[in-house]
Amino acid sequence: MQGHNRKPLPLGIAVLVLILASISPASSQNQQNTFNIGGGAKKPIPGGGAAVGGGDPFDQFIAKNVQHFAVTEQIYASKAQATGGKQLDAELSAAEASTVRYVVSPDGKGNYKTITEAINAVPEKNKKRIILDIKPGTYKEKLVIPMWKPFITFVGNAKNPPIIMWADTAGTKGKDSKPIGTLASATLAVEADYFSACGIVIKNNAPLAKPGEEGGQAVALRLFGTKAAFYNCTIDGGQDTLYDHKGLHYFKNCIIRGSVDFIFGFGRSLYTDCTIFSVTKEIAILTAQQRTKNIDDKDAIESGFSFVRCSISGMGQIYLGRAWGDSSRVVYSFTDMSKEVVPVGWDKWNVEKPDRRGGVFYGEYKCSGPGAMSNERIGWARVLNDEQARPFTGSHFVYGNSWILPPAKSNF
Ligand SMILES: *[C@@H]1O[C@H](CO)[C@@H](O)[C@H](O)[C@H]1NC(C)=O
Repeated sequence: MQGHNRKPLPLGIAVLVLILASISPASSQNQQNTFNIGGGAKKPIPGGGAAVGGGDPFDQFIAKNVQHFAVTEQIYASKAQATGGKQLDAELSAAEASTVRYVVSPDGKGNYKTITEAINAVPEKNKKRIILDIKPGTYKEKLVIPMWKPFITFVGNAKNPPIIMWADTAGTKGKDSKPIGTLASATLAVEADYFSACGIVIKNNAPLAKPGEEGGQAVALRLFGTKAAFYNCTIDGGQDTLYDHKGLHYFKNCIIRGSVDFIFGFGRSLYTDCTIFSVTKEIAILTAQQRTKNIDDKDAIESGFSFVRCSISGMGQIYLGRAWGDSSRVVYSFTDMSKEVVPVGWDKWNVEKPDRRGGVFYGEYKCSGPGAMSNERIGWARVLNDEQARPFTGSHFVYGNSWILPPAKSNF
């Protein structure tokens, strides 16, 4: 990840791994208790009195979020009025109006045999919506959709989806025989705006990295363009599966599989009705959200991940997130959490003092399942109240009215 590829496990977690490794299977039912040894686990503070004037900086920060939501809601309402209910971005409407479809089929019976050929054929500064109907099959291709090719949609049959697969890792040697790094390891990199996909599997099938192993990051999907939507897709990998790098992103009915930091970056993204699955028997860390003022890009401080009606399960000990940035922001709402979610829930990583005066914003709202709402959550995570959760629980979180379209239908 940008400059430093190695991401050692935080000391606290490393110690816990040792403790866990040393307990016999017979006492595994007591595993949960061993997490107390790390210390700092306190009962979360319910609600938080954001509406009460003043309060501590954390409360003020939450109150600001609520305010910001109220303002954007009003802006949308007045825009909708002015355009007779049409709120889509003008360039997107225009692209939609001139949609073209092409078939990708390895047997030569379509317009293109590979997805690479189809993308190459899209003109620079493309203005039409281009839907690629991709026939079922395995596509061993490493793809980049460059910035100057917006409005591309991949469609497959969700019941028998095409699989896009490659196996680069951060440690893979490039042409200059130096390691290519996390960023370049992606199977599919989307740098253009208004990309969407429906019924596609995007996979990095490099072998799963061992904990702390150097160069093991293996990105399946990297999103650097804004206003990207994914429906019924599977994003499959191990360490660093989904580089939610930058921009507004929407995921619905998707399956996301990974191990360490498997959703990471400074995207502002909504994940709804998604199944999130840990594939490691050791420590899994679901998010490493990179919100910070220290990146020279206003998107970084606007960023955050919101999970709504998702389910979290799989193997190992699952952490909900660790703070990559000093103001890392992640909220889970109405989400089912299996027993593998560790009672402390979250990890501070390199943030020295993640307390109520800091910028880290980790919240949970009306989640369920054995891994949810433990009494042992780390003290600086929050149980949000209705008002505090509202900015995060709908497509307004990603300003979706102006760009989220219904999923395209497959012809196969
Ligand atoms: C997408 O997934 C949802 C939930 O699993 C399902 O109800 C829907 O039919 C799927 N869509 C397609 C096109 O298969």
